[in-house]
Amino acid sequence: MRISPTTAVLLGALAAAQPALALDLHRERSSPYDLALTGSLAGVAAGETRYARWSDLRSLPTSELKVDGEFVKGPQALTVVFLDDLWKALPAAPGADAFLATCTDGYASVYTSAFISRYRPFLVLEINGKGPKDWPPPGIAFNPGPYVVTVSADLVPGAARLRDLRHKKPWGVTALEVASYAARFKPLYTGKWASLSPSARDGRDIWVNACASCHQGPSGVFGGTRAGKPFEVIEAYAGHDRAYFTKYVRDPKSVVPCAKMEAHPGYTDIELSGLVEFVTAGGR
Ligand code: HEC
Repeated sequence: MRISPTTAVLLGALAAAQPALALDLHRERSSPYDLALTGSLAGVAAGETRYARWSDLRSLPTSELKVDGEFVKGPQALTVVFLDDLWKALPAAPGADAFLATCTDGYASVYTSAFISRYRPFLVLEINGKGPKDWPPPGIAFNPGPYVVTVSADLVPGAARLRDLRHKKPWGVTALEVASYAARFKPLYTGKWASLSPSARDGRDIWVNACASCHQGPSGVFGGTRAGKPFEVIEAYAGHDRAYFTKYVRDPKSVVPCAKMEAHPGYTDIELSGLVEFVTAGGR
């Protein structure tokens, strides 16, 4: 076909209107280093999974970050894709505004669009020039692959003040769900949780940004499966004995010497009472 000068101009304009780079989404997994993508993606039926290969992700706009002590001791170079850029390369359906990450060990983490624009979380593709096939990097015993999503206080100093920063740095990330936060977390904002006091709302934030990393629910809402104890168990626990619950959350081993849960020593008394208020909102 001969392209007339006018058509050529038009084609040029259409090309410019396309997203700079769209991530290839494959129907089949090609390797353990593929990232599974699910959720609200245009052209992907509910419940279906697509796979992005490491090389696909590496061909997106990447950045080189110099950070200190993140994976190995001392300075190191990370090749990363900001979640923001990953989002732009995906056919996210209208209304979707969050990434929900899940990991090999049943850990989970939530990244809302507000969090993404403020704290600039990123997907780590290489550490000192080596990708996940060559991990763990010398100096660490545990393989952080296939993916790590993390936030750097070297890059965004305000991140250092985040209450639950460590829960935003999961290793072993295998899947990202593209979701509407309001739709996915609706049970936490309706019914008995529709009108909460400010401190209980703060407790809900703690639940979503910390506890849900390992505990699912309420009502099966997105969260980690690592603890094997869903919200309803925690609710019963808190309803039964608030003081014991508070001690347990702050330092599990202080009440159950063999407890496997990690301690959360950073919460203030006010934050913990807000957490109890949220968790037990429906009880008694
Ligand atoms: C890193 C994973 C992880 C996070 C984050 C976490 N938990 Fe846990 N939690 C566990 C595990 C694992 C257990 C089971 C502990 C055991 O059996 O020793 C547990 C047990 C508990 C229990 C005791 C339940 C029982 O029946 O024994 C309570 C209460 C609890 N968690 C509350 C919380 C709250 C509240 C938060 C948020 C501040 C939280 N957890 C965050 C992993 C986690």
